[in-house]
Amino acid sequence: MAKKLDIERVLHKQGFGSRKLCRIMIINQEITVNGEICDDPSAEFDLENLQYTVKGEPWEYRKNAYLMMHKPSNYECSHKTQHHPTIYSLLPHPLVERGVQCIGRLDEDTTGLILISDDGQFIHRMSSPKHKVPKVYEVTCKHPVSEDQIAHIRQGVQLVDEDLPIAALACTKINNHVIHMTLAEGKYHQVKRMVAAISNRVEALKRIKIGQLDLPQDLKVGEWRWLSAADLNALQK
Ligand code: URA
Repeated sequence: MAKKLDIERVLHKQGFGSRKLCRIMIINQEITVNGEICDDPSAEFDLENLQYTVKGEPWEYRKNAYLMMHKPSNYECSHKTQHHPTIYSLLPHPLVERGVQCIGRLDEDTTGLILISDDGQFIHRMSSPKHKVPKVYEVTCKHPVSEDQIAHIRQGVQLVDEDLPIAALACTKINNHVIHMTLAEGKYHQVKRMVAAISNRVEALKRIKIGQLDLPQDLKVGEWRWLSAADLNALQK
């Protein structure tokens, strides 16, 4: 049987504030459900395909939040930032209120694909070193990249504080200064440290793929969107 819940609890669970605040919005006729004003806080609805608006803004009930963002430079992947605004300030407030977390952090000057969710199991699966989800980075290097340097990254470079050399799963030259590097781990500043270990330097870093999920061409810097079922499938492969 489809699960039913009263609208006050729905709004509260979806991040629209305390039960009291949600009740006030409902009584003030600021909520529509499936196209009609709902001013009864105890009215129950099927959660499946539940469409509602809050102060005119359309939403859909989602048990968990799964998002992707095109992270801009000069944003930090932390709720408590030190020098720059947080990437969470680019999300609607109810999503932040639900306690979403980004999955693996990007440095403040790194751009590109980042996943965000409030599903602990999903976060664990995507970030656990055991699952080795590959991530592809587009790396712009200060100095021209030689074939020797590429070979070195493929074979493994020794990083300070690591017991064993670390190799990229793949490394391909795009042009003299740009390489694509695929990593299975997500160690602190890993790309920058690996590039430094081959006597080069990262000038710009962008994550372009996680698992089988590419950063969509039409997702502009600073934008986010919900992950579709196809996106989630691509991530499980
Ligand atoms: N490696 C880095 O050095 N920085 C990032 O942001 C991601 C991977």
